[in-house]
Amino acid sequence: MSAIRNVVVLGVSSGVMLAGALWADSGKAPSVYGSKCASCHGKDAKGNLSMAKMFKLEPAALNLVDEATMAQTDKELIATVTKGKNKMPVFEGKLSEKEIADLIAYLRGLGGAKPKAKAVEKADGGPGAKLFESKCASCHGKDGKGKEAMAKMFKVEPAALNLIDEPTLAQTDEELIATTTKGKNKMPAFEGKLSSEDLAVLVSYLRELGGGKPKAAGAGDMEAGAKLYDAKCASCHGKDGKGKEAMAKMFKLELAALDVVDEASLSKSDKELFDLTADGINKMPGYKEKLQAEEIDAVIAYIRSLAPVPAKAAPEEEAKPEGGEQAPEGEGTAP
Ligand code: HEC
Ligand code: HEC
Ligand code: HEC
Repeated sequence: MSAIRNVVVLGVSSGVMLAGALWADSGKAPSVYGSKCASCHGKDAKGNLSMAKMFKLEPAALNLVDEATMAQTDKELIATVTKGKNKMPVFEGKLSEKEIADLIAYLRGLGGAKPKAKAVEKADGGPGAKLFESKCASCHGKDGKGKEAMAKMFKVEPAALNLIDEPTLAQTDEELIATTTKGKNKMPAFEGKLSSEDLAVLVSYLRELGGGKPKAAGAGDMEAGAKLYDAKCASCHGKDGKGKEAMAKMFKLELAALDVVDEASLSKSDKELFDLTADGINKMPGYKEKLQAEEIDAVIAYIRSLAPVPAKAAPEEEAKPEGGEQAPEGEGTAP
């Protein structure tokens, strides 16, 4: 890939801080992390590979968001940052206790921005829950099971208002979205009132309320993935996933760098693709604040579906000599 990927601009704190500021915008922790920690631990906190080499350590030793690190208590982590540990510098006197505590909380956020933590966040009132409660719960109940009083008022069976029973959830996302946009008998039409993104979020929220895993939604899931992909990813990666020439030029990258359906990309595990999408890399923006974990899963499933041949079945052939794989976790890029 282009030289940009390979130039690790160590210690260029402005670049690092910028990168930090891009993925989280709350509090100072991201920029403190960017300027004080990312050079060694990577902007995604997974460890900077070239630093691991330099320190002659396993990359995992620099990974701050793996299980081994996250299993430690806040107290232990704060102690390591305050007092240092082997090659890990001492930050006592350089950062206040509050700054260190905020950093640890920030790291937990980075480490926890994985499906589980996201799901909890969502059940606690993520965008799906908020939308549902403000637009739908008055008739369908907070739990999606339908409000009896409304059923009486509309003179329909309570089941007609239940959105998380089998007959409803057996429908495809497209059907549920159609009913929501066009309405149905007494069900008001939401066309023009909800964006296609809102609708996708609502449907995935309904599936979640129903206890259904998004996977079970099958084709429907794929459809949400397609919509999200077209709305959020196609501008750079192209409708077909092969990358947009104009964007590649703008980013001064090989077109292949934007190709998400080539072997180099599709040979990655779902988890790797998930993390790349959530955290971003170099010029690729991170989506962890913008998409729910299920949405990222859906987009990835969709990307796999765009592949000419199922990636897993691909022959043992060498991936294109592309360098993308070995590129170190660059800390931002040169300005
Ligand atoms: C100069 C490079 C460098 C910088 C800068 C740096 N670290 Fe480290 N850090 C290390 C190394 C090396 C280790 C591994 C120590 C060991 O296990 O031998 C480490 C380990 C850690 C650990 C323990 C991980 C574990 O699994 O036990 C934490 C927590 C940590 N660093 C947090 C931070 C934070 C927060 C910052 C920014 C304030 C930071 N580090 C800045 C090099 C660095
Ligand atoms: C003013 C009350 C009201 C509101 C608000 C409302 N609905 Fe409905 N909804 C209904 C009624 C009544 C029905 C049953 C229609 C029928 O089957 O005759 C229904 C049916 C549905 C169905 C079809 C269920 C099935 O089994 O086919 C879906 C899907 C649905 N609503 C989704 C939503 C969503 C999503 C929202 C929020 C954006 C929403 N509704 C807001 C009254 C409402
Ligand atoms: C503003 C442009 C832009 C948008 C929008 C964008 N990306 Fe990217 N993406 C990039 C760039 C640039 C790279 C290459 C980064 C690099 O290698 O330096 C990339 C790389 C990737 C990779 C890594 C490919 C590989 O083989 O390593 C994945 C996966 C990816 N993007 C997924 C997505 C998904 C999913 C979306 C939508 C949710 C998305 N991207 C939206 C610019 C974008």
